[in-house]
Amino acid sequence: MKISIIGTGYVGLVAGAVFSNQGFDTCCIDLDAEKINLLSSGKSPIYELLLEEQISNGIKNNTLTFSTRYDSIPNSDLVFLAVGTPDLPDGSADLSYLYSAIDQVSKLIKKNTILVIKSTVPPNTCQNIKKYLEKKGLENEVVMNAEFLRQGSAVSDFLNPDRIIIGCSSPEAKDKMLEIYKNWRDVPKVFTDTTTAEMIKYAANSFLATKIAFINEMADLCSYFGGDIDMLSYALGLDKRIGHGCLKTGPGYGGSCFPKDVSALIHSSKDINNHILKAVHHSNNQRPGLMVEKIKQIIGELKGKKIGVLGLSFKANTDDIRFSPAIKIISLLKDSSINAFDPAAMDNTKKALPNISYAKNPYEAARGSDCLLILTDWDEFKDLDYNVIFSKMAKPVIIDLRNLLDHQKLKKIGFSYFGL
Ligand code: UGA
Repeated sequence: MKISIIGTGYVGLVAGAVFSNQGFDTCCIDLDAEKINLLSSGKSPIYELLLEEQISNGIKNNTLTFSTRYDSIPNSDLVFLAVGTPDLPDGSADLSYLYSAIDQVSKLIKKNTILVIKSTVPPNTCQNIKKYLEKKGLENEVVMNAEFLRQGSAVSDFLNPDRIIIGCSSPEAKDKMLEIYKNWRDVPKVFTDTTTAEMIKYAANSFLATKIAFINEMADLCSYFGGDIDMLSYALGLDKRIGHGCLKTGPGYGGSCFPKDVSALIHSSKDINNHILKAVHHSNNQRPGLMVEKIKQIIGELKGKKIGVLGLSFKANTDDIRFSPAIKIISLLKDSSINAFDPAAMDNTKKALPNISYAKNPYEAARGSDCLLILTDWDEFKDLDYNVIFSKMAKPVIIDLRNLLDHQKLKKIGFSYFGL
C-alpha cells in the first residue's frame, strides 16, 4: 500500500516515519523546502526522542521519501492530512491550511484514494470536506483518524496507543485502515462515524485539560487550608475511575493542543452553553497571573530583583514554547531582570523574548539571583548540584511551580523552598 502524508509537524512526521518503518511506501509532503531538505538528509527538524532513528531507518529501507511536491498523490491509496489547525484570534480553528491541501490533492487523486484526516478538526469537518469534494465531482471517502500522541513521547505514543479511533462509512475504507494498522494487533480499534471520531478527539483533550484545571484548583485549596497537593493527587488517582493521568499540578496547561482545542470546541458550538469548558479555559488563562502573585508574595516588589528561571518549554522533553506557561509568566515578570535556562527551548524563546538574558547552564541562571523559579518539569533539574546553586545565589529562595524538586533536601541545604 502506498501512502502520502501532507504536513510534517509532530503528527504527520511521526505517522510517516513509523508507517514507513512498518514497510509502507510513504511520502511525506510539506511546502517548507528547508524542512524537506533537512528531512531528506535523515535529520529531524523537531526535538523528539526516537524520531530521527525512525526517519533514517525509513530512508535506508527506501520506504520513506520527502517532497515539497504532490507527485506521489496519484499513486497513493491513502492520503493523510496532518496540517496544522491553529486557533484564529476569536478562538475558532483555522482550517485554511487543511482546505488548501485538499484543493491540491483533489486535482491529483485517483477514484478510490481515501483521504484520512489526522489533523484535529471541529465536529462535522469531515462531512463538510466530503461535500466540498462532491462539488468538485469527486466521490472519495473522507476518514477521520484522530491522533493522541504527546510531544516528547510522540514515537512511543504512536506505537503504543490506548486506542485507535477511525471514523469512516465504507467497508473499503475500514479494510484499508485495518491494513495500515495491522501491526497494532492488541490495540482496541473503535470504528464510528466521522463526527463522533472528531468529537472523541476534542472530548479527550478537553477532559484531560479539565483534570489539570481541577487539580490546579485543588492545589490552591490545599495551599489555603494547608494540605499536600501531591499526596492528594496520588490518593485521588488511586481511584480507578479517576486514574493518575493529568493530575500533576503546575502553572497551567500549555502547548499547541489543550489551549486551542478547548477554545475551538467552545467556538464551534456557540449556541450551546459549555459551562465546564468555559470555566476550564478561564481558569487556565488566569493561572500565570496567579503564579506571579504568588511569586510577589514571596519575594516582594519585582523592581530591582534578579530572577533565575529554569525551564521555558511548555513541558519537559520538547523545545516547543507554544502557549508555554513559562513564557507567559516571564512576560508578567518584566519589572525584574530574568536570566533563563532551558535544555532545548532557548533558541525558540530568544525569538519570543529577546529582552531577557539567557544562561549557558542552570548554575549560571542561578548566579546572583534573588530567587530561582522552576517553570518546566525537566527531569535533569532534579539532579543538579543544589549545594553549588546555593553558593551562587544572592538569596537562597526556590519557587518550584512544578513541584518537581525534593524540598526536604533543599531545606537541609538552607534554601527557602516554596512549591504549589
Ligand atoms: C496533548 C494530549 O495529551 C495528547 O493525547 C494529544 O494527542 C495532543 O495533546 C494533541 O492533541 O496533539 P501534548 O500537548 O503534547 O499532548 O502534551 P501533554 O503531555 O498532554 O501536556 C499538555 C500540557 O498540560 C503541558 O503544559 C503539561 O505541562 C500540562 N500538564 C500535563 C499538567 O500541567 N499536568 C499534568 O498532569 C499533565
